[in-house]
Amino acid sequence: MAGRVAGKKALITGAAQGLGAAHARTLAREGARVLLTDINADKVAAEASSINAELGAGTAFSLAHDVTSAEDWDRAIAFAAEHLGGLSVLVNNAGVGVRGNIETCTLDEWQRGFAINVDSVFLGCQKALPLLRDNQPGSIINISSIAGLIASDTMPGYNASKAAVWMLSKSVALYCAKRGWNIRSNSIHPTFVDTPILDGIGANAGLTKEVVMTKLARQIPLGRVGVPQEIANGVLYLASDESSFMTGAELKLDGGISAM
Ligand SMILES: NC(=O)c1ccc[n+]([C@@H]2O[C@H](COP(=O)([O-])OP(=O)(O)OC[C@H]3O[C@@H](n4cnc5c(N)ncnc54)[C@H](O)[C@@H]3O)[C@@H](O)[C@H]2O)c1
Repeated sequence: MAGRVAGKKALITGAAQGLGAAHARTLAREGARVLLTDINADKVAAEASSINAELGAGTAFSLAHDVTSAEDWDRAIAFAAEHLGGLSVLVNNAGVGVRGNIETCTLDEWQRGFAINVDSVFLGCQKALPLLRDNQPGSIINISSIAGLIASDTMPGYNASKAAVWMLSKSVALYCAKRGWNIRSNSIHPTFVDTPILDGIGANAGLTKEVVMTKLARQIPLGRVGVPQEIANGVLYLASDESSFMTGAELKLDGGISAM
């Protein structure tokens, strides 16, 4: 199949909905074969089936995968080797919000946030490297957040976990470059994007989704929250060879919020 990522073999975590589902479909539409993984097995299977219905059987595969589990990562990498025939693109996308400010965030919540947002990326990079090495050029794309670059008084756990993803991406980039491997590693930093992750915001205060979206939009210079395709377009660029000179960098897709 022709396309900007024709022939690439991509694993996308957290792909049952939201951004991960958009990344997977966008890469598939541009010629990649994709493995969608998620802790929600039924939903991710439905997403892969829908991609196959659109683009043809054998384009997309799915797997139940908890990104905090080293054993699950071993199974996911083995699955990619067997069903995709290798791996050239890893999108570490799965992630969660972390509730509480510095006084109210519990240690359990902090550790859950770091396990899903950071341990996942560490494990993914470590476990995927041998297969990426065998399938160069390779690209690792880690979904951080603008909250990894700009702090807020309300989300210390999310800020800190996403900042860790930002720096981890750079370290992996330098490690690969130093060894002469054509495996690039970059992070993406979206601001608010309309996905189910935003559903919890404002619920305690009894705010409707419409009111929440209006409040969030006011913080963004472009005057609106993003849509998943706008982030998937960044993933597509980093997955493709069009970004061949970009590694250890951050792509801010934030409607201008970090320019203020
Ligand atoms: N939507 C936004 O506003 C926004 C902004 C900046 C960054 N992000 C980041 O983008 C990524 C995707 O977010 P989204 O908005 O699509 O969220 P989402 O909640 O819609 O989707 C997250 C997916 O991750 C899966 N997941 C959760 N825990 C998992 C685990 N342990 N193992 C495997 N899968 C797991 C969920 O089942 C879900 O399908 C996250 O890393 C998030 O932090 C989102």
